[in-house]
Amino acid sequence: MKIAVFAGDGIGPEVTREAVRVLEALDLPGLVLFDGDVGGVAYKRHGHPLPAETLEIARACDAILFGAVGDPDCDHLERHLRPEQAILGLRKELGLFANLRPAKVFAGLEDASALRPEVASQIDLLIVRELNGDVYFGEKGIRTLPDGRRQGWDMMSYAEDEVRRIAHVGFRAAMGRGKRLCSVDKANVLETSQVWRDVVIEVARDYPEVELTHMYVDNAAMQLVRNPGQFDVVVTGNLFGDILSDQASMCVGSIGLLASASLSGGKMGLYEPIHGSAPDIAGKGLANPMATILSAAMLLRHSLGLEAPAARIEAAVAKALADGVRGGDLGGSLGTHAIGDAVLERL
Ligand code: IPM
Ligand code: MG
Repeated sequence: MKIAVFAGDGIGPEVTREAVRVLEALDLPGLVLFDGDVGGVAYKRHGHPLPAETLEIARACDAILFGAVGDPDCDHLERHLRPEQAILGLRKELGLFANLRPAKVFAGLEDASALRPEVASQIDLLIVRELNGDVYFGEKGIRTLPDGRRQGWDMMSYAEDEVRRIAHVGFRAAMGRGKRLCSVDKANVLETSQVWRDVVIEVARDYPEVELTHMYVDNAAMQLVRNPGQFDVVVTGNLFGDILSDQASMCVGSIGLLASASLSGGKMGLYEPIHGSAPDIAGKGLANPMATILSAAMLLRHSLGLEAPAARIEAAVAKALADGVRGGDLGGSLGTHAIGDAVLERL
């Protein structure tokens, strides 16, 4: 069981360190960890945000635990050298097309949500975000028009097979949960979304037990704060999923709590908190490592098939939160390492 640990930039190393402590505390036989550079730190050391060595380590491992990438020092670089290309490159190179982002309110955190407690307590949803296509990976550029104006452009597209495989992930996830799937698109305006919707409807025939609904993304954003309890599984494209999952995190209480899995259909998966590198608090030991610790739990479950230790980690985090363990993101004062300690004690 080989795990690549790519801590990255900003708070990435701090939160990843705590997740690694949790993994090591489980004392799983045969578990070996390998470090690699990604993001701005990799650019500074190797001249590229996703060096060939790093990709090689990734390919040799069963799973990746990823911290965060993003560094304001790199904002002036050409796009292909920016830190974000590390995560986009890994997703593409390893065929990690299915991103699972669960959002659930932990007991005791109903008051932390940006929503009223009685609304927040209903949240238990899973966003299934397509990760290899859409406007993220379309042709793009900046051109100068004949009249001298600069124009940026990004091509949005989805081919049927790309939609089909993520739709299956969405339906299968729904089968394992509440059997309700909401497909989010913008089919009233975008042709990309028309193909998306047609394919989702076609795939639905294979899952007669799942209740399928469709929602435009603007309405979905509104419904997510109005009545988030209505959602079970949400399946959507790369860009809409990016936006809705950040929104869902604040409905839950803190972006410091949301874990994610990026899956390829095989064993290989990449696991990361959905938050970014948070340069403003980097190096200060203030970040909440829970999202990364919960990502390590997802890693054990999805890539290594280790359900029991995964559930143990999740229970330890839930217990810590129920006991009032709070970082700054939740109005408390505990730092990164102290939160790690609190989880380890309960583990
Ligand atoms: C995420 C992040 C990434 C994305 C960035 C860092 C490229 O926001 O994982 O949600 O947009 O996918
Ligand atoms: Mg995002």
